[in-house]
Formats: sequence, C-alpha cells, structure tokens
Amino acid sequence: MRSIQLAALLLIICPLGALAQSSATVTIDTSKSAGKVSPTLYGIMTEEINHSYDGGLYAELVSNRTFQTSRGLSLENWTLIQNGDSRAAIEIDKTTGPSAAIPHSLKMVVASAGPKADAGFSNSGYWGMAVRPSTTYRGSFYAKADSSAPGSLTVRLVNGKTGAVAAATTVSAPGNSWQRYTFNLKTGALAASADNHLEILAEHTGTAWFSLISLFPPTYKDEPNGYRVDLMEKLAALHPAFLRFPGGNYLEGDHISERYEWKKTIGPLVDRPTHPTPWTYRSSDGLGLLEFLNWCEDLHMEPLLAVYSGYSLLQEHVAAGKDLEPYVQDALDEIEYVTGGTATHWGAERAKDGHPAPFHLTYIEVGNEEYHDQSGTYDARFAQYYKAIKQAHPELQIVASAPVTLVRPDILDDNDHALHTHFYRTAQQFFQDVHRYDKYDRSAPRILVGEWATREGSPTTDLGAALGDAAWMTGMERNSDIVVMASYAPLFVNVEPGGMQWPSNLIGYDALHSYGSPSYYAQVMFSSNLGDQIVDSKLDTANPRLFESATFNLKTHHLFVKLVNASSVAQPIHVKLSGTSSVESKATLTTVSGRTTQETNTITERTRVVPVVTSIANAGKDTALTLPKYSIEVLDLVVK
Ligand code: AHR
Repeated sequence: MRSIQLAALLLIICPLGALAQSSATVTIDTSKSAGKVSPTLYGIMTEEINHSYDGGLYAELVSNRTFQTSRGLSLENWTLIQNGDSRAAIEIDKTTGPSAAIPHSLKMVVASAGPKADAGFSNSGYWGMAVRPSTTYRGSFYAKADSSAPGSLTVRLVNGKTGAVAAATTVSAPGNSWQRYTFNLKTGALAASADNHLEILAEHTGTAWFSLISLFPPTYKDEPNGYRVDLMEKLAALHPAFLRFPGGNYLEGDHISERYEWKKTIGPLVDRPTHPTPWTYRSSDGLGLLEFLNWCEDLHMEPLLAVYSGYSLLQEHVAAGKDLEPYVQDALDEIEYVTGGTATHWGAERAKDGHPAPFHLTYIEVGNEEYHDQSGTYDARFAQYYKAIKQAHPELQIVASAPVTLVRPDILDDNDHALHTHFYRTAQQFFQDVHRYDKYDRSAPRILVGEWATREGSPTTDLGAALGDAAWMTGMERNSDIVVMASYAPLFVNVEPGGMQWPSNLIGYDALHSYGSPSYYAQVMFSSNLGDQIVDSKLDTANPRLFESATFNLKTHHLFVKLVNASSVAQPIHVKLSGTSSVESKATLTTVSGRTTQETNTITERTRVVPVVTSIANAGKDTALTLPKYSIEVLDLVVK
C-alpha cells in the first residue's frame, strides 16, 4: 500500500486524537536506594485568604461578630428586625464595649414591642449559616442593658427562604454591666440547608448593647472555638506532615502596624482586637496562635512557625540593629509561648489559655517572600533573628525566606532569584521543570518549597492543573533527600461571590458543602502512598508528557510507583523491577483521569474527578499497564 493511502487508512481507524503512544518502560531497581524520602515532604501552607478561616475552617457561624470590617466599625451582615408593629433601631456605639480590645458594641433601642411584635436584629453568617437536623449549636454573646431593660431575649435560627424556625431558645434579661451569656440551639428533624440566619429579639421596650455574638456548630473532635469538621477531614486525608503558618502575606501585613501580632491572637476571644489583613477583609483572629498549634496537634503535623521579620508588603521595613530588637524579642516570646514550660512567662500564659503541655517545635521561618523587599535589608535582619534564636534554642532549624549570605540557614530556599522557592506555574512550566533538582548539589542547603501550585482552573484548579502538580511532585519525590518540605498554596477558598481573592485553590466550599479539586486528589494519592526510600528508577519513553517516581517502604515492603500521563493519548507502559526476588501478583492501582484537562470538581458537582482504586491480579517483575490519557496513577506493589 502506498504510504499516503496507509496514512489515510490509519486516520480512519484511529482519528488523530486517539493515536496510541509507543510503549514506555520504567525500570526500577528496588535494591538501590537513591536516598531517604524526607518524612516531612508533604505538608500544608495556610493563611487567612479566600475566607480560609473566617467563613472557612474556623467553625464560627456569625460573621462580623464584633462589628469591625476592613472599612472600620460597621454593621455589615447585621440587619434590623421589626416584627408586627414594633419599632426599634440598631447602631454602632463607640462608647461602650465588653473589653479594652473591643471597646464598641451594637446598641439596640426598642421603642415599641410586644409578644407578637418583637424587635431585634439578625446576622446573615458567611453567605448563610449551615443548619443540620438533630444538631446542637452553642452560642454566646456579651450584653448589658439600661434600667428599662428589654427583658429576656429570644434567640433563634431561622430559614430565610421558608421562614421556618430551625431552633429557638430564651436568654435571661441582660443586667446593667457587661456580661457573657450562653445558650444552646437544638434542631429537630429538618432538611440541611445554608439558607439560615441568627436572630436576637426582644418583646419589651428598652436599650441593650451587644458584642462578640457567636454561634458554633459541632466542631472537629468537639473542640471549643474549633474547626469545621468536613474541612478538617479533608485535610486529614492529605496526611500532612507539617503546617506552615500563619502565612504568606498574612504574616507580613500591608503595613508594619498590620503585621500578624501573635500576642493579640491569644487568650479569651473578648481580648482579641482583630486585625486588618492584606487580603481585603479583617481577621477575627478567632483562629489565633493557640488554635494553629491545636490544629497541628489534631492532625499530627509539625508546626513550621513563620515569625514576623520586620518587613511588610508595602515596602515598609525595620532596620536591623536596635530598631529590630523588639521584633526579635517578640519572636523569642512566641517560641517560648509554643515550647516553654509552665515556669516560663509565656509558657504559663499558654497554660492559662488551656494548653499546659509545651508543643513540639523544630522549624522556624523568618519572614515570607523576602526577595520582594526592595530595601535589601533581609540579609542583616535574618542574621539578627538567626543569632538570637540559635542562641536561645540551638535545637531549632531556621528557614530563610530569601537567599542570604551573612549566616547560613539550616534550610534555605533555592538560590535562583527568578523562580525562587514559591512555584506558581502553568502545567507546561512544571512539565518542563520536573528535573530541576535531579542535579542539585547535595552539599548545598536543603529546600523548602513553601508554596507551589499549577494555577489553571478557578476557583479551584482543574485536571490539567492536577497533571502539572503530579508531574512536579514526581520531581520532588525523586529528590526528597534535599527537597525536605513542600506545601501547596493556597489551600482553601470560599467559593461564594466575594469569597475569593486568589483565583486558583485546592479545596472549595460554601457554608454547607466542601469539595476537593483534582489537584487535591493528586496530593492525597501522592502523600498517602509514600515510601521511606527513594529507589533508583529510569523512564524510557518517547512521550514528553510522561513522568514517574518510585519510593519504597523498607518495613512494609510496599513499592509505590507514581505515573503521570499528561498527554492526550493513552500510554502503554511496562513497570520492570530488578533487585528483587519476588513480587506479589496482587497489586493496587489508583487512578484519577478525565476526558479533558478542563474537567474539574465544583461546589455543585463535587466528585466528578476522583481517584478510582482497582485491583491487579497479575502484577510481577514486569507489570504491563495502559495509562489512560490525562491520568495520574499510583501503582502499589508488594515486593520481597
Ligand atoms: O498564596 C498566596 C500568596 O502567594 C501568599 O500569601 C504569598 O506568600 C504568595 O505571594
């Protein structure tokens, strides 16, 4: 047959998009360790962005609970209620509040009210409030009243669509000085929904003041002031080894005066003044330093504590030397709060806050993205922090967030200024860079990839991004003797309009539901199938979009082979093992794939792209597989 005819015939049988790749081979020598897998390789990075905490992980249902927004004191999310013929007004009162930290309040004046004509105010939550059947919600507020007090108050959860009362209770009449009142709201049989708001109502005339109005659903491990259960469960499935906190830009603030001041985020909520963030909204600081540490404890993560370094985003800095001393001392105090015994000042404060046992701490990071500091002062500022911290805590490992020369940190970012250690990329850029660390000088400082992500798809990333991520992770795994920590960012996004500031994120949610992006599932697959040894592997392929890594668990004898086929056609492959005497014929293959790179999960279609686990009956020293187009696989073999 003439070649032109053959080509035409091939096109009829195999339309272009369906052309097969020629077979590839990955050869793995399980007897040859190429280094140890860092036990802290996969972690998570977090900051208050995209309503990650307020309206996200922090389970508080009441938004703007202390009437402070980025635009100042405000009744945003609060609405006056005048039922029947009642007459009332609400306003901010700057002259009275429950504490020095919150010296203002909501003033309610009820001019006319009665049993069937009560008046008060409501809170709309974070784009609604999730209410579920047979659930107890724990609430509280600070209040006081004038002599003509409006009497006892009705507190209730109401469905805004149907008008149905989901739960109601009575709180005794506020006295004439500030006090905290608590209540429980119990739901019965109802359909779960997010269309709810909280109401506080009076049946008598009078004036009362309110602040720090709070309502919590059941939280993860039932912790007070705790975390949203579904989001914590999603994080737990990532098996994160560490938590990098409190940011990101959130650590730095736009101005020095708006930095993350940890001392203002501890203790009773009423003593936390809240603070502006660089991500357009104000943080309630309900999730403060102790809550970050409890979060670490809950998920068995090592804290990677970032301390403020004297630089804020709008190019403000504190000069190294005398001026910087109070900031360095603040970092030392913070370390004492985390690790000090109860005989130390800050250890005793932590005990008072409810956690007498010191937390385990190994890693400190000084600042964030300091290569943006145009003053060029980071080197000197870092050296000052480094010396002071090392002197007090020689056991701590200190991470620099930009290249430095005066002292050598224990873990340093990549010295490449242009790319640096934060890799926000396209999938194609990651495909081209997967061998970045293969030839890295093993005597150079180790690497923390503190933020990275393929930024394709919004509000959460799509399958194409997951392929870029997975390819990049194969490179980090193969080099996890020197890439010791890596954390994707950003972690969370509230997908409601106005909830998002950064367009590509790992986990999305609204008030009621949450979902993982395909990138999230890629991470779950990689981090929950990880050996302790990097094993020697070689990929032989003509497909430039095929990637692999292999790690072996010496104790359990599981060999985890990660395979990524980012091409648009299926990829036949042989996984060949040497250096092993036997391979169990039963193996497991976990696959995530899709028809297009745009395929994704959304708040309404939450599990469209998820991993599928299949059993393989005929695995061996030569296991033949066909990797679907646009797919990520983990082959789990038991090797003796
Ligand atoms: O992850 C979003 C932002 O990206 C972080 O706050 C900052 O460190 C980086 O520029």
